[in-house]
Amino acid sequence: MRKLLLYFIITLGYSVHIISTLPQTQSTLENEEVKALAFLEEEDRLLAEKCFQAAEANWNYNTNINDVNQEKQLNASLEYSKFAKISWQNLNSKFKSWSNFKDPDLKRRFKKSTVLGSSALPEEDLVQYNQLESDMTKTHSTTKVCAFLDSTNCNLSLDPDVKKIMKESRDEHELRHIWTEWHNKCGNRIRNPYQQFVKLSNQAARLNNFSDTGAYWLREYESDTIKEDFDQLYETLAPLYKQIHAYARAKLRYVYGDQFSSDGLIPAHLLGNVFASSLDGVYSLLIPYPQRASVDVTNEMKAQGYTPLKMFQKSEEFFTSLGLIPMPQEFWKESLIVKPKDREVVCHATAWDFCNGKDFRIKQCTEVNMRDFITVHHEMGHIQYYLQYKDQPHIYREGANPGFHEAVGDTLALSVQTPKHLKEVGLLDQATQIDDYETSINFLMAIALKKVASLPFAYIIDKYRWAIFDGSVDSSRMNSHWWKLRKEYQGVKPPVERSEENFDPGTIYHVASHVDYSRYFAATIIQFQFHRSLCKEAGQYDPQDPSKPLYNCSIYRSKAAGSKLAAGLAMGASRPWPDVMKSMTGQEIMDGSAIREYFKPLEEWLAIKNAQLGEVPGWD
Ligand SMILES: *[C@@H]1O[C@H](CO)[C@@H](O)[C@H](O)[C@H]1NC(C)=O
Ligand SMILES: *[C@@H]1O[C@H](CO)[C@@H](O)[C@H](O)[C@H]1NC(C)=O
Ligand SMILES: *[C@@H]1O[C@H](CO)[C@@H](O)[C@H](O)[C@H]1NC(C)=O
Ligand SMILES: *[C@@H]1O[C@H](CO)[C@@H](O)[C@H](O)[C@H]1NC(C)=O
Ligand SMILES: *[C@@H]1O[C@H](CO)[C@@H](O)[C@H](O)[C@H]1NC(C)=O
Repeated sequence: MRKLLLYFIITLGYSVHIISTLPQTQSTLENEEVKALAFLEEEDRLLAEKCFQAAEANWNYNTNINDVNQEKQLNASLEYSKFAKISWQNLNSKFKSWSNFKDPDLKRRFKKSTVLGSSALPEEDLVQYNQLESDMTKTHSTTKVCAFLDSTNCNLSLDPDVKKIMKESRDEHELRHIWTEWHNKCGNRIRNPYQQFVKLSNQAARLNNFSDTGAYWLREYESDTIKEDFDQLYETLAPLYKQIHAYARAKLRYVYGDQFSSDGLIPAHLLGNVFASSLDGVYSLLIPYPQRASVDVTNEMKAQGYTPLKMFQKSEEFFTSLGLIPMPQEFWKESLIVKPKDREVVCHATAWDFCNGKDFRIKQCTEVNMRDFITVHHEMGHIQYYLQYKDQPHIYREGANPGFHEAVGDTLALSVQTPKHLKEVGLLDQATQIDDYETSINFLMAIALKKVASLPFAYIIDKYRWAIFDGSVDSSRMNSHWWKLRKEYQGVKPPVERSEENFDPGTIYHVASHVDYSRYFAATIIQFQFHRSLCKEAGQYDPQDPSKPLYNCSIYRSKAAGSKLAAGLAMGASRPWPDVMKSMTGQEIMDGSAIREYFKPLEEWLAIKNAQLGEVPGWD
C-alpha cells in the first residue's frame, strides 16, 4: 500500500528550451527572482507532459507484466531521466545564487528542485539501476510457490494464495511450509540484485550531495533529528506494543503450544501474514469477547453481495460525506480494481498521479473482505491528497512529509471501522448491541492488532536499511542483522533456521521496489493526531467528557472536519510539515499521545488480562 513515488523521486525536469530565451545579463537579485519564477512556471508545464508519458508506460507495465512492456517502461523512464537531468543542470548553472533569494517560497521551490534523485547517475549506471529495480519488483510480483503436500501444484502466488493461507490456515506445518517457500523462493533471488542496487543507489545519493541513500530518503522530513525523533516515538509506544505481544503470545500458545519456548519470542509464521508485519490476521484467535459483536464484517459484506466496485463506491461516499472531492471520471474508467486472470500484474496496491491534473488511478487486486475495504480507503486517501494539491507547482505535489500521505485514508478508516458507523451503513445488524464495554474492547483489539502491532515492523525496516546503506552492516550480516532487529524490537523469530544464502527483508514489497518504509511508521502516529483533531472539529470527541472517548468518534458527514482536512492537504509540500501539522492539529510535532489515549481502555484491559494469564510482557 503506497502512493506511486517514482516521479517524485526523480523529481523535476528543467527543459533546455526555455533557457536559451533567457537574457544572460547580470541583474539584481529581484530581477533574477522574477526570471527564476518564470523559469519554474514554464518547467512545471513541460514536466507534466513528460511525467505523464513515463507514468503511462509504468502503469502499462504494472498492470500487464511482460518483457515488451518492461522494455517500454524502462525506455520511458530513461527518457524522463535524461530530460530531468539536462534541465536540472541548467537550473543549477543558471541560478547559482538561488540560496540568496529573498522570497521564501521561491527559495523553497529551488531547494527542492536542486535534488534530482537517481537521474543524476551516468546513463550506463542509471540503466542498470532501473533494470535492477524493475527486475526485483517483477521477481516479487511473479514468484510462485508450491502448495503444502502437493509438489505438483507450484502455482501459488503471493496475491491471493499465500496471503490467504497464512491468514486462514491453522495447520502449523502448512504455515511453516508456505512461509519457508515464500522466503526462499522470493528472498534468495533478490539478494544479489539488491546488493548491486544498493551500490548504485548510494552513488546516486552522493551525486545529490547526500552521504548515502538513508540520508537522501530522510531529507523529506527536513529535520536533523528525525532519527532520534523516531527512536523516541518508538520508545513511547513500546510499552503498549509489549502488552499486545504478550497477550498474542499467550493466545497463540494455546493453539500452537509446542512452537513456543522460554525465550518469549513468537515464531514469524504464526502471526496471520507471511511478513509477520501485524497481527490482524489472527484476530479471530485473539478476540477478547468472542460472544460479543466483532467488527470484522467480512461475512456481512459477502452476504450483502459487496463487490470490489461497491467497496470503492462506499469508500468514495465517505469522502464526499465530508465535503471532499469525488473521484474523477478518469479514475472510474482507468483504475484496475480486480486481479485480471489473463496476465501477470503487480498486485501490491498503489495510487497513481499521472501529473496532468486529470488522470488519477488505483491499482489493487481487491478481494471482498474487511481488510481490503480498509485498504481501499487508504489508497483513496492518496488520490484525495493528489486532487487537493493538484494546482500546486509540481515540486509541491507531495505530502507535507511522507507520513502525511500514508495517513489520510487511514484517518478516515478509523471512523469507518467504528461499530456505530458500521451499523449506520448496515454492515452491523441494527439489533447488535455495540455500546457495551466488551464490544469496545473487541473493537480496540481489532484496530490495535493492525496498527500498534505494525509499529515495530514499520520502525525496523528502515532502521535495517539505513545500516545497509551507510555500510555499518555488510553482506556477511545482511540477513542475520534483520533477524537481530526483528527479535529485539518485534519479539519475533524465524520458524526455521536462516542463513546468509537468504535475504528475508527482500520478501517485503517495499524493499524489492525500493520504497522507504518509515513513512508508515510516521503515518501510524500522525493518523491518530489527525483523528483527534478532526473529531474535536466534528464535535464527536471531548477530552473532558467521558461519554465521548476518542475511539468512539466517527467524523462521517462532518463538513467542518472535512474542510479542516482539505485545507491541510491542499498545501501539499509548500510549507515545512510542522506548519501544516500545526494548521491541522494545533501541534508542530509527531506525537504518540493521541495513539496512547485512543487505546487507553485496551491497554488497561491488557495489563489486567496478562496478569491473570501470568504472561509477563517482554522477551529475552
Ligand atoms: C499486454 O501487453 C501486451 C504486449 O504489450 C499486449 O499485446 C496486450 O494487448 C496487453 N494486454 C492488455 C490486456 O492490455
Ligand atoms: C527501447 O529503446 C531502444 C533503444 O532506443 C530501442 O531499440 C527499442 O526498440 C525500445 N523498445 C521498445 C519496446 O520501445
Ligand atoms: C499457473 O498460472 C499461470 C497464470 O497465473 C497460468 O498461465 C498457468 O497456466 C498456470 N499453470 C498451472 C499448471 O496451473
Ligand atoms: C554538491 O556540492 C558541491 C560542493 O559543495 C557542489 O559543487 C555541487 O553543485 C553540489 N551538487 C548538488 C547536486 O547539489
Ligand atoms: C458512541 O457514541 C454514540 C453517539 O454517537 C453513543 O450513543 C454511544 O453510547 C457511544 N459509545 C461508547 C462506547 O462510548
